[in-house]
Amino acid sequence: MNALAPNMDHHWLPFTNNRLFKQEPQVFARAQGVRYWTPEGREILDGSSGLFCCAAGHGRPEIADVVHRQLMTLDYTPHFQRAAPVSFEFAQRLAALLPPGLDRLFFGNSGSEAVDSAVKICLAYHRARGQGQRSRFVSRNWAYHGVNIGGTSLAGMVNNRRDYSGVTFDTLHMRHTWSEEQRYTRGQPESGADKADDLEDLCRLHGGETIAAVFIEPVAGSIGTIVPPKGYLEKLRATCDKYGILLVFDEVITGFGRTGAAFAAQEFKVTPDLITMAKALTNGAIPMSAVAVHRDIQAAVIDAAKGDRPELFHGYTYSAHPVACAAGLAALDIYRDEGLFARGQAMSPKLLDLVFGLRNLPQVTDLRGYGMIAGIQLKPGANPGEKGSLVQRLLFDAGLHVKATGDALIFAPAFVVEEDELARMGEVLQKVLGRGDI
Ligand SMILES: Cc1ncc(COP(=O)(O)O)c(C=O)c1O
Repeated sequence: MNALAPNMDHHWLPFTNNRLFKQEPQVFARAQGVRYWTPEGREILDGSSGLFCCAAGHGRPEIADVVHRQLMTLDYTPHFQRAAPVSFEFAQRLAALLPPGLDRLFFGNSGSEAVDSAVKICLAYHRARGQGQRSRFVSRNWAYHGVNIGGTSLAGMVNNRRDYSGVTFDTLHMRHTWSEEQRYTRGQPESGADKADDLEDLCRLHGGETIAAVFIEPVAGSIGTIVPPKGYLEKLRATCDKYGILLVFDEVITGFGRTGAAFAAQEFKVTPDLITMAKALTNGAIPMSAVAVHRDIQAAVIDAAKGDRPELFHGYTYSAHPVACAAGLAALDIYRDEGLFARGQAMSPKLLDLVFGLRNLPQVTDLRGYGMIAGIQLKPGANPGEKGSLVQRLLFDAGLHVKATGDALIFAPAFVVEEDELARMGEVLQKVLGRGDI
């Protein structure tokens, strides 16, 4: 068999039109910095940090080296009643980056697992405090919180929940925050904080005392980058406090400098009770996720447990996998030593200039952006999602990888991107989005 063209029948690709993919495969064989290469050796610039994971760029030897070393020192340890030094070190380093108080870390392997873990921790907390009636969750339309049962229940993107109704739990949805008057807003929109009043309405309708937690992506990423209106997150925080509801920020995309500060909680100066994170936690090199939990929440759960039993009946075989922890420590070292969050902040105006320079192109109907993430809304095709899929393929053919979601592109390069690389990405976007014939 030709090594460049393996048999593709057996791998069922996730979130993919598999029939189309097999007709027009888009395969990456190698990566370095902000570049991929196809098996044929064609260069493709990475305009989405893979899937918003590789904030420090691809192929970092610092991570590869510690991963190899960790594999040869301690390749695996269970974390049920056992542990390894590396996970404590990693948790301590993460705690130092997080908002004060959110310094207890629970590890998993994916953003979806972090969300499910956070759901259970919220329920365990309320139960520990004698408030087991709090079983409902609040999310919002267009939300993406992964694809496990928790994330599917919280989902606000229709296709991600429609077929799975039998397994989802009771979730109330607020409206999303986008509106017509926000079209082409750079940064935080002035209007839309009133959408947070939906939470007050839900509390009045269902009883605030029946709600366990509100899950929010501070910047709604997977729908195509919806930036929170000024005052919106603050209002949600106040309503949660009023009714004793936990506020969870899902920072799987926004964590680790994507909005400027280490976490969006710090960038927008609103402190939630829990933060979920994944992706750039290890620079995407090894699957890993974490939930940062306020120390009072952990204390309540631990203090409520009686006798010799686990306090939280939850965990994964690969929770805090030592190799993932080692990769995460190396990623944190890179972020610190290269000042990458500050570099992302410095690059952000250039990225947003590039994106907002696409405004008058025939395929563009809206632009949004904050920090090192931007959404490019496309003129829709005959059916929802078709234009996004087509444009994603045309960009690949023209030498640029960008994640499409429905009819939007999510442009979020690595923070190490150089200005000339950014400019080259912009040229490809101009060329493809400038086409009037698609
Ligand atoms: C906000 C948010 N939560 C959860 C997830 C799920 O993460 P994973 O795909 O690692 O399960 C994602 C993935 O993009 C996400 O953007």
